[in-house]
Amino acid sequence: MDIKIAIVTCSTTRGREDDTAGAALEQMIRAAGWTPVGRVVVKDDRALISEAIIEACGQADIVLTCGGSGLSLADVTPEATADVCERNVPGIAEAMRATSMLKTRRAMLSRAVCMQRGSTLVLNLPGSLKAATECFEAVSDQFEHVVAMTAGEGH
Ligand code: MTE
Repeated sequence: MDIKIAIVTCSTTRGREDDTAGAALEQMIRAAGWTPVGRVVVKDDRALISEAIIEACGQADIVLTCGGSGLSLADVTPEATADVCERNVPGIAEAMRATSMLKTRRAMLSRAVCMQRGSTLVLNLPGSLKAATECFEAVSDQFEHVVAMTAGEGH
């Protein structure tokens, strides 16, 4: 099944050229046989991130944000996500943290959320290359089922 996935990297210090986590996620999406449909880098600004999520949702079945989900007061990705999404999908963020806890106890510091905006799933991934790819690996086996269920296909 093809899935369209967009990436919104949230970082005030990084640009598109050094968005290593976003680029790695794009490769993993391709390797899974899915289609990356855009990768943007936006500053850690709640309104800008919300805007980028809305834009990405217009093109994608799944939007992965990358970064800005920690405890620094500048980290506002979960809030920006909640601002433009309707329904919480807590299990995916919980599974990400549970799997990550087996690698590093720092995983409990993640405030990541997973929510639906209309028929698009928006998932917050952490920002470092290692953490983002580990979290993608932890939950992406369910992505095809997510898209099928959202389309009303059931289990
Ligand atoms: N998850 C995995 N798999 N590996 C990691 O190294 N780092 C954690 C957590 N999740 C980590 C992880 C840390 S230190 C933080 S602060 C949060 O993700 C949020 O990261 P972010 O602020 O880059 O979004």
